[in-house]
Amino acid sequence: MEDDVTPLLRQVLSQIDGPDPRVNEVVSALVKHLHAFVEEVRPTEREWIAGLDFLIETGQMCTPHRNEFILLSDMLGLTSAVDDVNNEGPEGMTPSSVEGPFHSPAPVREPGAWISEGPERERGTPTVVQGRVLDCDGTPLPGASVDVWQANDTGLYDTQDDSQDLGNLRGLFTTDADGRYWFRTIRPSSYPVPTDGTAGRLLGAIGRHPMRPAHFHYRVTAAGYRPLTTHVFLAGDPYLGSDAAYAVKDALVREPVRRTDGCEEITFDIKLVPLDWKEGQ
Ligand code: BEZ
Ligand code: FE
Repeated sequence: MEDDVTPLLRQVLSQIDGPDPRVNEVVSALVKHLHAFVEEVRPTEREWIAGLDFLIETGQMCTPHRNEFILLSDMLGLTSAVDDVNNEGPEGMTPSSVEGPFHSPAPVREPGAWISEGPERERGTPTVVQGRVLDCDGTPLPGASVDVWQANDTGLYDTQDDSQDLGNLRGLFTTDADGRYWFRTIRPSSYPVPTDGTAGRLLGAIGRHPMRPAHFHYRVTAAGYRPLTTHVFLAGDPYLGSDAAYAVKDALVREPVRRTDGCEEITFDIKLVPLDWKEGQ
């Protein structure tokens, strides 16, 4: 054990001795970092209790459709940090990025179907999203599952908004023989994450805006490949450089192209990593 630990920390660490070595490792590291935090910050007792109350309130905000802890983890860049250490892969793979708290089961839809079924379809910019699911060497993957979800033009998901039917702006597609998928929708807009809970209070207290740049969410699966959760962001969005969820990666930004029929078109090919991929291959 390191020499610079306090007698108290030494005692706490010496008593961590459960049957699962990974649990011992995780709890020991957590305890060390928390004790170092207390040494550095020297919180008053009132501040410490306020911190615990904040965590209690965060738990109390959670419902089946709202997980304030996930939001807090996203807003502190922790979800992206966990994503980074778990999703390394070969050159050319599509990077993963955070799932966010709004995934829910999507209706199965035919290729080319609209995923927008509400009044936003009349108001929004019609958009075609298309691409292929491929191996990292460019081999098309037929029969891959492409699950997409997005917010409407007021920045709300169906599960947050009683005026939308469940399943609106969601779709579950299967790639064709060439690995292709495509769907119709409206152009997403940038929107604020929910600010009426503890995560929003924290953002306000540290002077950060709650905005996410316009995006689509994807969850893509194919037999024999690592499932991929990711986003596509729209080029030119003013919040690309300051995403409240720290999920933007350059390789995920696409420029919508204006077509002669007035629609915008976004092309997003997805390259999956084989399940047996190992570092150094
Ligand atoms: C989202 O885009 O759905 C989202 C992601 C992270 C935090 C909040 C919302
Ligand atoms: Fe989102």
